[in-house]
Amino acid sequence: MTGFSADWLRLREPIDRQARSPALAHGLAAALRRQAAGPLRIVDLAAGSGANFRVLAPLLGGDQNWLLVDHDPALLTAQRAEIVDWATRHGWRWTADGEHIAVDTGLARWTVRGQGLDLASELEALERIPFDGLVTTAFLDLVSATWLDRLGKLLARLRRPLLATLTVDGRRAWHPPHPADAPVLAGFQRHQGVDKGFGPSLANEAVAHLAACLASHGHRVTTARSDWRIGASQPDMLRYLLDEAAAVARAADPAAERWITSWATERQAQLDGGLLALEVGHLDLLALPPHLPL
Ligand SMILES: C[S@@+](CC[C@H](N)C(=O)[O-])C[C@H]1O[C@@H](n2cnc3c(N)ncnc32)[C@H](O)[C@@H]1O
Repeated sequence: MTGFSADWLRLREPIDRQARSPALAHGLAAALRRQAAGPLRIVDLAAGSGANFRVLAPLLGGDQNWLLVDHDPALLTAQRAEIVDWATRHGWRWTADGEHIAVDTGLARWTVRGQGLDLASELEALERIPFDGLVTTAFLDLVSATWLDRLGKLLARLRRPLLATLTVDGRRAWHPPHPADAPVLAGFQRHQGVDKGFGPSLANEAVAHLAACLASHGHRVTTARSDWRIGASQPDMLRYLLDEAAAVARAADPAAERWITSWATERQAQLDGGLLALEVGHLDLLALPPHLPL
């Protein structure tokens, strides 16, 4: 279990939403609308508490049936509460039974079902589920080259499009700059490559690897930057990322405790004074199979 809490996913959701490439999401919407007759059938891989559904459903438009796949039972439970809360805030009607939630906006009806699946061992189970498009967000940097090759083969066999958003690409810049930023980042990058249940993570190289793999299968691949820009108005996220960076740097080099503490103390003072900002590089990827026109 990789252990992502619903609180962490809630913290990142508005920042993710702002960072995503609208052009690639609209590209998926246009391609799907040209091929589907009935409600769109979308599968979200590693859906967590359903943030991807909440961004994409209004944008894709029309009736949709979503399957939100994750291996974490706590997040599958959180999906229901988060979706109900979101629909209520928008003034949309919703109904829920033991399995599905249905959101009725007046213009469209979206049904959602969560499914427990370990994507490391059971990715190919998706072949038995009919769907029009595959989406995933904040997930591909956890997986290995071998797993991405399996995903590429699956999409090629099924001739389906993929929108994969918010994969980290290794760029990370604190403002104002500090001389210790580079060694802190180096410790962080080493940690990125550890096995998160899928074999050694490709992390920053995941999008380039998957883009090449899908292109070799004939998919047309487009990528776009979707960087987080976190400033004084998001102190909780800055604090989280500052604490995480210091903890990972300490774990990577315990002998460096002194300068890491001094870096973290200076950064904390900047945060308290509203003077700290951070950019975290991400990439979105849209891959359309050969028969789907742009
Ligand atoms: C960073 S979170 C992103 C969640 C969600 N897509 C979002 O953006 O809010 C990564 C997700 O991958 C899921 N995950 C990790 N390993 C998995 C596995 N082996 N099978 C299925 N899901 C997995 C986690 O449970 C978590 O929900």
